[in-house]
Amino acid sequence: MMRHLVSSLAAAVFTSAAMAQPPDLFGRQFTPSERNHGIGWKFDDRVAFLGQRLFFDARLSGTGTTACASCHDPGFAFAEPRPVSISDNGRPGRRNAPSLWDVGALPILMWDGRFRSLEQQALSPFQRGEMGIGVEQAVQRVNSDPQYVQLFRTALGHRPTADGMARALAAFQRTIISPTSRVDRFLVSNETAILTPQEQHGFYIFTQKAPCSNCHQLFPLRPDGKVYSAPLLTDFRFHNLGVGYGFSGIADAGRYAVSRFGADWGAFRTPLLRNSVRTPPYMHDGSLATLEDVVEFYNAGGQPNPNLSPLIRPLFLDNYEKAALVAFLRALSDQE
Ligand code: HEC
Ligand code: HEC
Repeated sequence: MMRHLVSSLAAAVFTSAAMAQPPDLFGRQFTPSERNHGIGWKFDDRVAFLGQRLFFDARLSGTGTTACASCHDPGFAFAEPRPVSISDNGRPGRRNAPSLWDVGALPILMWDGRFRSLEQQALSPFQRGEMGIGVEQAVQRVNSDPQYVQLFRTALGHRPTADGMARALAAFQRTIISPTSRVDRFLVSNETAILTPQEQHGFYIFTQKAPCSNCHQLFPLRPDGKVYSAPLLTDFRFHNLGVGYGFSGIADAGRYAVSRFGADWGAFRTPLLRNSVRTPPYMHDGSLATLEDVVEFYNAGGQPNPNLSPLIRPLFLDNYEKAALVAFLRALSDQE
């Protein structure tokens, strides 16, 4: 019943939109553990659906052309094909928009980790000029649309508020859960044939020879001790790889700007690697165009600088090994 209501509303709301279309996240059948990454969220489809509507609504911007989905485009795995984001006013920012697949599973958000929950993050694009209007103006616009007022009433029991918008946006984003990849199946079943011999060799390099999994951990522990049901490939920590370091120093201080610890200078959060084949360009500044470029970057030992992570060093991989590593990274997606 709810599902039916949601999809007919979705059809009515989105057919006229010229921009990115929402994928059918609600129609998918999740296993209980897929649905919450093993963490135990409770979903309310009405709140999440309201959030989806806000997420794709370009009316909530200064020019009427920017929505959350402009930079987190479902056609690009909820990331963007540009190296750095362009705000509603046409001005480029400093960083590349991360993919939002599985973002609900993260205990720490943004490249520099400055937010700890999706609710905390949700209004920042209005506060930082990315949407071209402020929070108050956005709430006003939502309030002037009777359909929204109705949706807020049914979902949250009150008129549109800033808090309610944040809750709904967060709830929607928790439904952005990546489908199973072949690597997931390989890891749980131990049936080696799920990966090709080349991909298996890439897995060996990723977890043992390089090992990338020092930072891109397969099954990281959450700070609250809970475990995930799918490999996320991050440690939720910050490392300096030297990305953005040049003659004039580092372009972006990264985690340092938040923590003020010298050791965090030029360090960024280890990104998830699920579906990364669909999210070029790479790194916080979008400076590497392809997965092959990323592997070359690591093979050379990153970009030397005074704060380079001790875990980054030249790898001396030959061409076969580099290709195998890329093949493994590709198998981390659901593209097939
Ligand atoms: C103009 C482009 C742009 C728009 C519009 C935008 N974002 Fe983002 N988003 C970014 C960039 C760039 C980052 C990374 C910023 C950083 O780390 O400092 C980001 C980060 C995020 C993150 C953290 C992801 C992670 O992996 O830690 C979330 C969640 C998010 N945005 C949600 C939203 C929501 C919700 C909206 C709409 C209200 C929105 N964004 C609008 C560009 C954008
Ligand atoms: C010292 C920890 C560490 C190690 C070891 C490491 N990474 Fe990373 N990885 C990171 C961090 C941190 C970033 C983001 C850096 C930035 O943007 O400045 C990153 C970024 C990436 C990205 C880009 C993702 C995106 O969405 O932009 C890919 C792909 C990647 N790493 C793959 C690998 C592979 C393959 C290896 C092994 C050869 C590896 N990493 C080893 C920490 C690490």
